[in-house]
Amino acid sequence: MSYWKKLEEDLNKAVKEAGYDTSVTLSLSNRPDLGEFQINDAMRLAKEYHKSPIEIANDIKRVLDEDKNFKDINIAGAGFINLSLTDQCLTSFVNEIKDNIENNIDKMEPKNIVIDYGGANVAKALHVGHLRSANIGEALNRLAKALGHKTISDAHLGDAGLQAGLVVLEMKERFPELLCFQEGYNGEDFELPIVKEDLKEIYPTASNKSKEDENFLNEARQITYQIQKNNIAYTKLWDKLSALSIVDIKETYERLNAKFDLWEGERDSFQYIPEMFDLLKEKGLTYVSDGATVMDVKEDTDDKEMPPILLQKSDGAYLYATTDLATIYGRMKRFPIDEIWYTTDIRQELHFTQVFRAAYKSGIVPESVKLGFYGFGTMNGSDGKPFKTRTGGVMPLNELIDLIKVECRKRLNENIVEEENRDNVSETIALAALKYADLLPFRATDYIFDPAKFSDLDGKTGPYLLYSTIRMKSLLNKAKEENIEYKNYTVIKNNTDKDVLLTLLNLPNVLKRAYESKSLNEVTDYIYKLTSSYNKFYSENKVLTEENDNLRESWLVLSKTVWETNMMLLNIMGIDCPEKM
Ligand code: ARG
Repeated sequence: MSYWKKLEEDLNKAVKEAGYDTSVTLSLSNRPDLGEFQINDAMRLAKEYHKSPIEIANDIKRVLDEDKNFKDINIAGAGFINLSLTDQCLTSFVNEIKDNIENNIDKMEPKNIVIDYGGANVAKALHVGHLRSANIGEALNRLAKALGHKTISDAHLGDAGLQAGLVVLEMKERFPELLCFQEGYNGEDFELPIVKEDLKEIYPTASNKSKEDENFLNEARQITYQIQKNNIAYTKLWDKLSALSIVDIKETYERLNAKFDLWEGERDSFQYIPEMFDLLKEKGLTYVSDGATVMDVKEDTDDKEMPPILLQKSDGAYLYATTDLATIYGRMKRFPIDEIWYTTDIRQELHFTQVFRAAYKSGIVPESVKLGFYGFGTMNGSDGKPFKTRTGGVMPLNELIDLIKVECRKRLNENIVEEENRDNVSETIALAALKYADLLPFRATDYIFDPAKFSDLDGKTGPYLLYSTIRMKSLLNKAKEENIEYKNYTVIKNNTDKDVLLTLLNLPNVLKRAYESKSLNEVTDYIYKLTSSYNKFYSENKVLTEENDNLRESWLVLSKTVWETNMMLLNIMGIDCPEKM
């Protein structure tokens, strides 16, 4: 249990002792001149106990005055209790977490959670939307695990959409002699006449053709449908093209530190579709409208239009909603599940609302299981419109990372980083810059892509955090080289070191709120706050040459604790820290 929680329990014991059978919360004060913490529950209790808030606040104060953890207890305004922690309390807090940073996290009751993020489309380039999905999804996954949950992450690759038919058709036009296109083809293996780089050109070419040539489009649709029906030739070719493309996709996710337990695709849900349709039909939920199979998901309380969910087109083809619903069907069969989370562009919200409702309504998912959609906003260019390449195309994700890498390379200290490591280190810093900037605003908020700002060494940026974290580590390394021992935290000098302590103390609340809101913005704010308060302390004190042994020892313990906290939080954000920069 975190120290914060213990303090709260302590406090609540006092409240009971004062005669109030209730629990109150401790919060960090927004008036540090009055005290470090506040308790704002006296007004609420006044109603319950028919007493004045001041009287209640005084009752509580009297008990707390005897508690060795609290000091400077005073009552302000209508009955707000302000209080601070004694040095003894704060030092024992640090000693409790210094050897195990996990002691500063409150584990939750463990749940089984499937997290669906990434969502790259096979044979198409990854774009910035996929960056946000991978980055936010991975961070939420790591956060959930840090808080004690069991997760299964699934990349849920898009491999059943129209791009399948488009690419296969383009291949057919270019290479009609391919074995799979010959009469009587029976599934034999063959060699692809292209390499993975060619795919980058094949899909856009085919996509453009389909916009100009309706016959091409219709034929591609037909092939997509044939692949859904497992046509031997088209499926074999698409399998081989997918495998080729997935090599690239995996490399990009590796670059982003996104680690998936499952690399399944939309097509992996096909096996469940017949069963699922049987169930829906049996329950009388689906009907045919204009030849298409649909299901109503409207609810009485809807104030917006809620169209029926489209599960099969008139030509028999399945849709995005079909594979998503069938994927849920399959997951429920295969895994113990308490929750399923989705991280995609917020513009897909309607789709997920429909899918979730269909899942509950049909009983595929019981009410006790939570389906959560956690959408994100758009990364825009400086013009406020979705970020594009100079020629107006969709910016491929790898190019976007490279743009920041150039900026970070410019800022690298060449006196410190050896030539052979410069590329690697620039890459690590670039990803920190990009990932931190991406997690900084609340998940659903749009933000502007600004490589120079993201890469700045000063400011609320990934590079600033890395730079500061490396400096903490090098201080600890120097202490080691000089054989300076440090074991316990014993003294606080002034408000500068105390600020760092109070910030550390607040960590469990930050993690909990980030988990509840499924957004990392509080974590990014927090690590910045912790790092800047540490840097202030660092600039005001000479840790290694401090002559007072107790102070030096305490400060080294503090430095180690902050360094470890930073490393843990960077890890939750999926950010690596280089050794020097
Ligand atoms: N492939 C989709 C896209 O690029 C994202 C997939 C999101 N996940 C899901 N289960 N639908 O838009």
